[in-house]
Amino acid sequence: MMQADVVVIGSGIAGLSFALKAAKFGTVAIITKKSRPESSTNWAQGGIAAVFGEDDSPALHMEDTLVAGAGLCHPDAVDVLVREGPARVRDLMDLGVRFTREQGDLSLGLEGGHSRRRIVRADDLTGREIERALLAAAAETGNVRVYENHQAVDLLTATDPGTLGERCCGVLVLDTETGEMIPFLARAVMLATGGCGQVYRHTTNPSIATGDGVAMAYRAGAKVANMEFIQFHPTALYPARERTFLISEAVRGEGAVLRRRDGSTFMEDYHPLASLAPRDVVARAIDREMKRSGDPHVLLDCSAIPEHEIRERFPNILRETTERGMDMLREPLPVVPAAHYLCGGVLTDTHGRTSVPGLYAAGETACTGVHGANRLASNSLLEAVVFAHRASERLGPQLQVTRPLEPEAIQLPQGTDEPDDALLVHDREEIRNVMWDLVGIVRSDERLGEAEDRLRQISLHINGIWTDSRPTADLVELRNLIQSALLVVRCAMRRKESRGLNYNVDHPYRDNEHCLADTIVVR
Ligand code: FAD
Ligand code: SIN
Repeated sequence: MMQADVVVIGSGIAGLSFALKAAKFGTVAIITKKSRPESSTNWAQGGIAAVFGEDDSPALHMEDTLVAGAGLCHPDAVDVLVREGPARVRDLMDLGVRFTREQGDLSLGLEGGHSRRRIVRADDLTGREIERALLAAAAETGNVRVYENHQAVDLLTATDPGTLGERCCGVLVLDTETGEMIPFLARAVMLATGGCGQVYRHTTNPSIATGDGVAMAYRAGAKVANMEFIQFHPTALYPARERTFLISEAVRGEGAVLRRRDGSTFMEDYHPLASLAPRDVVARAIDREMKRSGDPHVLLDCSAIPEHEIRERFPNILRETTERGMDMLREPLPVVPAAHYLCGGVLTDTHGRTSVPGLYAAGETACTGVHGANRLASNSLLEAVVFAHRASERLGPQLQVTRPLEPEAIQLPQGTDEPDDALLVHDREEIRNVMWDLVGIVRSDERLGEAEDRLRQISLHINGIWTDSRPTADLVELRNLIQSALLVVRCAMRRKESRGLNYNVDHPYRDNEHCLADTIVVR
C-alpha cells in the first residue's frame, strides 16, 4: 500500500502542471503508465492559444471559442479560460518553457477559427518543449514523486463519515514491470489521463490515449459528458506508418491550401474561410471529397509559403516528411483526416471537481464545458493549464481538513489465467475498425445501432477475459477502450441532431429546441 496527500494519474501537461502547484500543499505521487514523457502533450505541434497580440482581446478569444463550440460551450468556463490563459502561459515561461520569439516578442501563429494571431508556439514542437520543462521542474520539486510504468486500473472509494456519501480515496495500480497490484491511497485524486483517440483505426494520438480516465471515472459513478464530440483533425499525413504524423493546422495558417488530387481547390465550396474554416467543416469536406472521387487522400499545397518560412517555422514537419520521401517545398503533401481530440469527458466544474467527491479531472480527460460541440484549435493545452491551476488552488486549503479514508475492502482482480495476446489484439483492432467504419466523421442511426450491437458483443468477450485472467497492461487498456467506445456510441445515439463534431445524416440540422444541452451519462 502506498500513500500520498494527492495522487495524480498522468504525466502530460494537465497532470504535471497540477502536481507542481499541488506540491505547495502536500506530498504528490504521479503515476504514469509508460515512461514519463509518453503523452499527447509531447506530440502537440501548433501551440497554445492565448491573448498576447496588440489587436487581440479576451472578448475576441471568447467569441471565436463560442462560435467553434456551436452553442454548447459553457460561457462561464470559456470566460475563465480566456481571462486566466495569458497568466498561465506566463507561468509556463517562468518554469523554463522557451517559446519562439521574434524581435523579443512572442511569435504568434494563426489556426482555423481564430480571428487573430494568438498561437504561442515553440517552433512546431510546442508540446515537447512544454513537457521537457514541466518534467525538469517536477524532478526538482521535493514533494513530487513520479512512478513510471504504473498503470491505474480502478479508482478506490470509501464512505465519508462526514457526509455518509462515497468519496474517492485512491486508486488501484498495476506495476506493469512486476505485475504487482498496489493500492495508492490519497486525500484527493487527480485524473489527467488524456484522450481516447486509440478507439479509432486512424488517429493522431499516441498509444497511451485509450480513454482510461473516462472509463475509470464512469465505473466509479462519475458523470461523463459529450463523448459524441470526437474531433477529427483534417490533415494527417497519408499514408500513415505505424504512427500517424500530423501536419499542423498552423501550416494552413501560414497559407497552405487544400486541393483535390487533380489540383483544383474545393474548400471555398464549403465555407467562406476556405482552408482555414473550423476543423469540423474541413474534416467533413475532405471526407465528402474523398468519398465522391474515391481518392484515398487530398493534397495540402504549401507552395504559397516561402521556403525560408517553412524551414524556420516548421522544421519538424519538414524533417519528418523528408524522411518519408516527400518534398513539401516542391510538391503538395497527401493528407487525410484522423481522430484527434476528445471534447467530452469526465464532467467537472470550473475548479476541476467531478461529481464524485475527492476526484478531480483536468486536461483532455475532463469536460470543463470549454469546448462545447467542437474545440477551437490550440485551446486544449490552454484548458489543461488553466483548469489544473484552478483545481490546485481549490484543493490546497481542502487538503488540510480532509481526513484520509481507507476503502472497507479492496477488490483485487481474481483471475489467474494468462491472457491470450492474440485475442486481445483481435478485439482491439475490431473496436478500432467498428468505430472508424460506423462512428466516424459522418454518422447515421443505422450505423450507430450496428456499432452498438457489435461493440456489445466485443464487450461481453472482454468481460469474460477480464474475469478469468491476470490483469496485464494490454488487458487493462482493452477494458477501457471498449468502455470508451460504448460511451461515444451511447452519447452519439442520444444526440438526435447535427451539431459541431456530431454529424448524423438522419438528423442533418441543429435542433436548438430539444438538443441545446450536454449529453450526460452516469453508470
Ligand atoms: P496527455 O498529455 O495525453 O497525458 C496523459 C497522461 O496520462 C500520459 O502520461 C499517460 O501515460 C497517462 N495515462 C493514461 N492512462 C493512464 C493510466 N491508466 N494509468 C497511468 N497513467 C495513465 N493541443 C493544443 O492545444 N495545441 C496543439 O498544437 C496540439 N497539437 C496536437 C498534436 C497532436 C499530434 C496531438 C495528438 C494532440 C495535439 N493537441 C494539441 C491536443 C493536446 O496535445 C492534448 O489535448 C493535451 O496534450 C492533453 O494533455 P493531457 O495532460 O490531458 O493528456
Ligand atoms: C495542430 O497543430 O494542428 C494541432 C492543434 C490542435 O490540435 O489544437
